[in-house]
Amino acid sequence: MFIHTLFILSLLFASSHALDFCVGDLSLPPGPAGYPCKKSTSVTENDFVYSGLAAAGNTTNIIKAAVTPAFDAQFPGVNGLGLSVARLDMAVGGVIPLHTHPGGSEILVVTEGTVAAGFVSSFDNKVYYFKTLKVGDVMVFPQGLLHFQINAGKTKATAFVFFSTQNPGLQITTFALFKNDLPTEIVETVTFLDEAQIKKLKGVLGGTN
Ligand SMILES: *[C@@H]1O[C@H](CO)[C@@H](O)[C@H](O)[C@H]1NC(C)=O
Repeated sequence: MFIHTLFILSLLFASSHALDFCVGDLSLPPGPAGYPCKKSTSVTENDFVYSGLAAAGNTTNIIKAAVTPAFDAQFPGVNGLGLSVARLDMAVGGVIPLHTHPGGSEILVVTEGTVAAGFVSSFDNKVYYFKTLKVGDVMVFPQGLLHFQINAGKTKATAFVFFSTQNPGLQITTFALFKNDLPTEIVETVTFLDEAQIKKLKGVLGGTN
C-alpha cells in the first residue's frame, strides 16, 4: 500500500511539474503551437532568464532603429506561455515603419525619450495616433493591426513591447511590398503606386524585378 501511494504521488508530481511550463527545445523545429518541450530534467533557471535585452540594438541602418526580440526562439522559457517581450531602440530620426504582428496584441512602455505611435483600424481605416508618449506612458496595439512608432524627440528613444503571444511575428509593410522579387508591374497593380517609386524602393531595400 505504501509503495502504491508513493507511486501515485510520484506520478502526480511528475505530471504537475510537466504542466508548469514547456521550455522550448530550440534544437527541434517549432510547430504552430511553438517548440516541443525540453525534457524537464534538463531545464534550469537559466531557461527563465534572458539578458539579451540589456543592451541597445544597433540603430545604424535604414530605419535608424532596432527591434531586439525575446520571443520563443530567443527566450525558450516563454514557450507555451502565450507572452513575450522585445526592446525597441530608436536613434534621433528613427522609426519602426508601418508593420503588423499577425500573432498577438502589443503593449508598449516608453523607458527613454519620447515616442509618437499609432495604429490603423481595420474596419474604417481610422488612425489612432498619439503624438507624444513620454517615459512611463503605455500604449496598446490590437492584434494584427498596422501600426508604427517614431522617435519624436531630439534624443534617443527606448521602449519595451510586450506581446500576448510567444511569437508575434513581424511584417513591415514597406519591406513586404518592395524587398521582394514580385515584378514591378504586379506591385503597381496591387498598390496603385507608380513604377518609378516602386523601382526606387526596390533599389533601396534590395528588391528585384
Ligand atoms: C552596427 O551596424 C553597422 C551596419 O551594419 C556596422 O557597420 C557597425 O559595425 C555595427 N556596430 C556595432 C557596434 O556592432
